[in-house]
Amino acid sequence: MSRSERPIARYADPFDDFPRNAIRPKRAASPEEWRAADVALVARAFDHLPDKGACSAIDVGAGQGRLVPAIGARASSMVLLEPDLLRARIAGQVAARLPECDAEVVVADATTYTTYRKFDVIVCSHVIQHVTSSHRRPLLESLRNLCAPWGVLLMTYPNTDNGKEAYYISEQEASAVAVATSEATRSAFDRCIAGSGGTSDGVKRLGIWHSAMEDVPQLHTSSGFRVLDHGAYRWFEHWVRFKDGRTLSVPACDAYTISVVQ
Ligand SMILES: C[S@@+](CC[C@H](N)C(=O)[O-])C[C@H]1O[C@@H](n2cnc3c(N)ncnc32)[C@H](O)[C@@H]1O
Repeated sequence: MSRSERPIARYADPFDDFPRNAIRPKRAASPEEWRAADVALVARAFDHLPDKGACSAIDVGAGQGRLVPAIGARASSMVLLEPDLLRARIAGQVAARLPECDAEVVVADATTYTTYRKFDVIVCSHVIQHVTSSHRRPLLESLRNLCAPWGVLLMTYPNTDNGKEAYYISEQEASAVAVATSEATRSAFDRCIAGSGGTSDGVKRLGIWHSAMEDVPQLHTSSGFRVLDHGAYRWFEHWVRFKDGRTLSVPACDAYTISVVQ
């Protein structure tokens, strides 16, 4: 495995405490259920490839490599693109255990990343909700540049299910386990994302955009993709604990969009 490293960003939630907290604790759910739903979508994306032979993939915003085994099982080569150095290293360790797949870790921001290489499959899982609102289009344009002419893009993200986008900021105090979420304005969300890794005063803050159902497919279409498959999916009941004490359970809050180049 080769690796190019240039630390450029920190992700506010390096150990995925926030999604773990969003899984309703009363039921015997585990992050595995979240992964299983996304792994099924990865398989679906690969199924859209016209040629089932050896193929290349890129996991954009690979995080800790949660989906790397699923992607590596289907691709002969893959790039793990992740701006947070700590998370990129963990993802690299996951990839190193995949003997059949030639993996490379790139520490970079997807909205500005350029390469001459093109990929058959692009996975961008639960990333778009964490880029500033003005960087959504640059992200899509960058993914379009990475995509082979016959290539497939899979994107997963939260959606509000009510036709209106919403912004949230989740906070976790140092040494606390619980995560508290507040509704936020778009500008507060943007400031949180653009801030220093989202952490200040010992509090981790993660901005999360919940799209309206058609927002992301429209971004795909206007960035040179044609949408093949799009829908909401239920992996488990999301459990949001608000700062003011309210709780909200959201049964089907995630969505996926699978596209090909137009
Ligand atoms: C919720 S995690 C998802 C990780 C992984 N894709 C998964 O599904 O488990 C979001 C990831 O997106 C990464 N990320 C945020 N902004 C990014 C950007 N501009 N370019 C690439 N990755 C980004 C974060 O560093 C973080 O690892």
